[in-house]
Amino acid sequence: MKLPLVELHLHIEGTLEPELLFELAERNAVTLPWASLDELRAQYDFADLQSFLDLYYRALDVVRERIDFADLTRAYLARARTAGVRHAEIFFDPQAHTSRGVPLGTALAGVRDALDRSVDEWGITTKLIVTFLRDRPADEALQILREILADGVAIDGIGLDSAEVGYPPALFTEVFDLARAHGLRLVAHAGEEGPPDYVWQALDLLGVERIDHGIRSLEDEALLDRLVRDRVPLTVCPFSNVRLRVIDTLADHPIVRMLDRGLLACINSDDPAYFGGYIDDNLAALDAEFDLGPDRLALLARNGIEASFLTPAEKAALL
Ligand code: ADE
Ligand code: ZN
Repeated sequence: MKLPLVELHLHIEGTLEPELLFELAERNAVTLPWASLDELRAQYDFADLQSFLDLYYRALDVVRERIDFADLTRAYLARARTAGVRHAEIFFDPQAHTSRGVPLGTALAGVRDALDRSVDEWGITTKLIVTFLRDRPADEALQILREILADGVAIDGIGLDSAEVGYPPALFTEVFDLARAHGLRLVAHAGEEGPPDYVWQALDLLGVERIDHGIRSLEDEALLDRLVRDRVPLTVCPFSNVRLRVIDTLADHPIVRMLDRGLLACINSDDPAYFGGYIDDNLAALDAEFDLGPDRLALLARNGIEASFLTPAEKAALL
């Protein structure tokens, strides 16, 4: 039987597969700088987070209309279903779209169109987490959050992503305070390329409930004690870590060390269209590399369920 998987770290923009990218380019009459799928795929050789982000934002030029956002989201949900995903908490970057002239309402409505039918179509429950780009001004994030709240669009939480180093969580306290005041759930990318201090800031200044990535926490024993004591989840993304050169090879991945240290770590796919695979592919590769076996695979799946924003009854139904 397939493990009941939950996905907690998945950028919907990072699920744009090359085939859909070319299809949307044709639909929207966008001229691409890549002549073929192979030429595009040849770009997927990243030196670091920034070199990936440059392509990730560029590729989004083809996603323009409400139906495009719905198609992108549906394609992810269909693939997630085959992976055995039963619940997905999906990141959406408003500024990746508003900054190129796509109205916030258009983009959000398209994503919601797909999410609202997800249980019926795929048997996957979902939550939507709006992630703000930390390399853009905090005031812009605040304005977008206010707009979403005023429009009454259904979102479940907020997060923080994009280029990390030089953009500490401390810059975003006002945004997270506003979200908390409205009962939204709080997460942030921290300790991916940035130092352990950014993880401390995300916990203590933003009050986040989960850390996305967080693998550089391993450099700080006191931080590890805190994460273990408070059972703060880390949404770990092995393929992403290798492809963005946070680590050299999958064999160097610290996931086993993280579990042995008592961290509440779970496996996720981050930007699967760019990093070589989905959540099931990540788990299969880790199993092959570290011989995880059924018990540790089940532990990773259970950690994901515990780390989710589902209610205790919903969690129990998945276990
Ligand atoms: N946006 C999409 N993927 C990301 C990642 N791995 N880190 C930061 N921002 C991102
Ligand atoms: Zn991410």
